[in-house]
Amino acid sequence: MKRSLGVCYYPEHWPEEIWPEDAARMVDAGLSWVRIGEFAWSVMEPKPGDLQLDWLDRAIDVLGNTGLKVILGTPTATPPRWVGTKYPDMYARDALGNVRGFGSRRHYCFSHEGYRTESRRITEILAKRYGQNPHIAAWQTDNEYGCHDTVLSYSDAAKTAFQNWLSQKYQSPQALNKAWGNVFWSMDYAEFNEIELPNLTVTEPNPAHALAFRRFSSDQVVSFNREQADILRKYSDAPLIHNYMGRETDFDHFAMGTDLDIASWDSYPLGFLEDRVGDGPAHQRAFAQQGDPDFQAFHNDLYRAVGRGRWWIMEQQPGPVNWAPVNPSPLPGMCRLWAWEAFAHGAETVCFFRWRQAPFAQEQMHAGLLRPDSVAAPGLDEVKAVAAELSQMPDVETAQARVGLVFDYASEWAWKVQPQGKDFSYFRLVFEIYRALRKLGLDVDILPPDTKDLSPYNLVLAPGILSLSDPLLSAIKTFEGRVIFGPRANSKTTELSITDPLPPAIPGLDVTVARVETFRADQPRPLEGCGHAKHWMEELEGNAPVLARSATGAPVLVGDTKVQYLGCWLDEDAMHRVLKNACLEVGLAPIELPDGLRRRGTRSHDIYLNYGVDPVEHDGIALEPAGVAWREKT
Ligand code: GAL
Repeated sequence: MKRSLGVCYYPEHWPEEIWPEDAARMVDAGLSWVRIGEFAWSVMEPKPGDLQLDWLDRAIDVLGNTGLKVILGTPTATPPRWVGTKYPDMYARDALGNVRGFGSRRHYCFSHEGYRTESRRITEILAKRYGQNPHIAAWQTDNEYGCHDTVLSYSDAAKTAFQNWLSQKYQSPQALNKAWGNVFWSMDYAEFNEIELPNLTVTEPNPAHALAFRRFSSDQVVSFNREQADILRKYSDAPLIHNYMGRETDFDHFAMGTDLDIASWDSYPLGFLEDRVGDGPAHQRAFAQQGDPDFQAFHNDLYRAVGRGRWWIMEQQPGPVNWAPVNPSPLPGMCRLWAWEAFAHGAETVCFFRWRQAPFAQEQMHAGLLRPDSVAAPGLDEVKAVAAELSQMPDVETAQARVGLVFDYASEWAWKVQPQGKDFSYFRLVFEIYRALRKLGLDVDILPPDTKDLSPYNLVLAPGILSLSDPLLSAIKTFEGRVIFGPRANSKTTELSITDPLPPAIPGLDVTVARVETFRADQPRPLEGCGHAKHWMEELEGNAPVLARSATGAPVLVGDTKVQYLGCWLDEDAMHRVLKNACLEVGLAPIELPDGLRRRGTRSHDIYLNYGVDPVEHDGIALEPAGVAWREKT
């Protein structure tokens, strides 16, 4: 498949006279896609029912006639002020009950029926008008669901919808009481309408209640999106896309992914390094202008899974952003490197955010490919370089990985509700395993928790997964490779109670987690050999062969050649050792990459990317900082 480039553009921000020149410059830079419209509701419909779409018709024509394919966004992330006047209770409320009101964006509660009606209405207007427009080559639903912590809403609308959701799920309050264990602290309910949202309780709410609220909230986002998707499909055959985020885990992206055609995500490597990756100051200093070497890659693999193979970058950082604690410039070459990282992982298209830097409003300090005065910003030359390289490259096809790593949104919610120690983060646990695999030069597929077929893999890892799904359990029965579960895998029921028998209850593996403990970050537990357990450790009982022990002789890894259970969170050294051994034992060929160097294979090439600030050499490949090199596979 030929890969392509694009850009996010806001015609409503600029005089119409400059649209043709903008479009021509985009094409000249080698861009083929342009995303528009996702925040333009107040100019599309300045007053209720007063549709002003002529400007949008003309913008689409200008862009399309210049040779660009248009991605049109539904504008529901930014309802105009009059929508709030019509529905004063449509705003979300935070956990303290404060209204999250008008004046920025994402000011709506997913459960508000009135707002849902507005969302369907404006979606249908756009779908009808542009569904058959030859220039509209894709649709984007809304914008970044969950951005600014907007999935969980504690509004009245959410409460009513939650009660309905509970009554459908549990059928009777007695069944709910039993499932949640409400007899503990006399929390039993007689009616569904007595059940509050799990905020403003004196101390922690029942974890089952909190988890149910998170499942409900995720379902609300998925069904909000599905309403738009259903309407768009009635009028258009163009693919439907949503732009997901980095480390946004409050809704089940796999569930939403099945309603859309392509997954995309918004990649801001330098912003994320500071406020989302979660590594300390030394790491942040080392990668300040390059971004974390694995965070983008992880999301590329995650969203390839969410999109069932089809995925894009919808927004790529083009220069300094405005929203992180500090906002450095990318090292020269990084915009090119990030794009190549995405293509190496199978991205069909990489779009940059945004065309021209806005001189006004919230994001005036956020770079674009052009400066506010229309002079090219440094990112533009890098985009041109990638476009030239793409046109010379043979088609880039995604390689089949041999390592699978299960990622499960419900597990992230469960362990947020019940971390058992402040440092336990499911996301971090999975990400650290991903990082260790990538440092060993391995391609990784992220797998949804109900994966049915593991046959492409030699090694599958399922850390921290709340409850094993039936499809995964049966896939494991016939799997010929190795699966490593744990820590904390299959340890609770879906209602967040302790399982009976005690965990991990993995068929064919004689091991029981007798006790768990969490401990201070500055008191890791030494392991035999090298490295430590950190944050979390389990006491393992049973007759399964012991494969690794703590320095005091306690088992930490048990099992046979096929199914193993890991009873602690391994630090970097121990993780490296355990995963490298596992890879060698299952016939994979791990490599030792120098610091900052990463590799990802396509079907035909190995692509090497240098995230370090120093030149590196490895196996005959020499790379400058921010360098990218590809070598044909032998
Ligand atoms: C994204 C968002 C864009 C813009 C960008 C700035 O999260 O989708 O609209 O705000 O961040 O970096």
